[in-house]
Amino acid sequence: MSELREFVRTLLEEKGLKLGEKDISRIVEDLKRWVPKRGKDLLVKTRDGSYTLISSRYGEPYHSITAGAVTECLYKFVVPSRILEKARSYKKIKILDVGFGLGYNTAVALTEVRRVSEDVEVEVVALDINIPERIPPLPEPYRKIHEEILKDLPSYEGKNLKVRLLLGDARETVKLLSGFGADAVFHDPFSPLRNPELWTADFLRLVKEAMSEEGVWVSYTSALPVRKALLDLGFKVGASRPVGRRRGGTVASLKGDVPPLPSKEMEKLRSSPYSVPFRDPELSWEPMRILAEYRISVFLREISSGEGTKLYQDKQR
Ligand SMILES: C[S@@+](CC[C@H](N)C(=O)[O-])C[C@H]1O[C@@H](n2cnc3c(N)ncnc32)[C@H](O)[C@@H]1O
Repeated sequence: MSELREFVRTLLEEKGLKLGEKDISRIVEDLKRWVPKRGKDLLVKTRDGSYTLISSRYGEPYHSITAGAVTECLYKFVVPSRILEKARSYKKIKILDVGFGLGYNTAVALTEVRRVSEDVEVEVVALDINIPERIPPLPEPYRKIHEEILKDLPSYEGKNLKVRLLLGDARETVKLLSGFGADAVFHDPFSPLRNPELWTADFLRLVKEAMSEEGVWVSYTSALPVRKALLDLGFKVGASRPVGRRRGGTVASLKGDVPPLPSKEMEKLRSSPYSVPFRDPELSWEPMRILAEYRISVFLREISSGEGTKLYQDKQR
């Protein structure tokens, strides 16, 4: 019997659940697709001419290839986060960048903020477990600040600007940021089914503690477990304008305004068996454990709603 099958069996036993072999196979087949791979990252040109890497470990690009890397930074993160509006009227703005990666979101945001205001003070705290050794440069006008920040990592100081990268598992480092008061959060891990540990209700609760009440959380994902977790945490949840794919990303805020969620998407969020948050109560579960627990709760919800099982579609960027 495969290790994965054994693992699912043990989890089911712990929960006192008895499933048939066919149902166990379905869960195992879903989980198999999420096992990380080894190899080298690949350099690719994206639709707007900027470059990104495809992570071999996660089997996914760092940025949307179909939207374009810079376009994604601008329209899925910087613009919907409303920091450009805040840069015009606030004395200081704080950004939390979850998943620094190639540093594109941070560099694009800082360049755009400076176009709006020379004077606003900016503090960025970025989290990442491991950044690639060779990072492709950004095109102008983003290249200069990007290069400067990368050269000085883990911290950079410029005129009215501080950037700090906290290296380590974000589930640990985010605990240092309670009360930080982020005006914007760029939530940009790999997709929920590849990188589930940074999309759990438990992790998002800590992100919430690092935000101001007017702060805006943005992400490229429209995944139901993530939106449901945000709703349960008391966020207003909306959608950003679609870029490079059919559905928009997610915008959430406790007290700030968010663009409305299309009614079809709201309905799905209310009624789909997939609309259940990922959990990681000790903030230390292996990704596969988080996914297996999720898959089992979806399975049970499907049974109780009489929907029957279907395989989860892996919605990447
Ligand atoms: C899609 S990339 C981020 C791209 C980045 N925002 C940019 O603009 O270049 C996702 C990042 O999340 C990081 N990551 C994944 N799991 C993590 C964890 N548990 N803790 C901290 N960072 C993590 C990865 O190392 C990767 O750099």
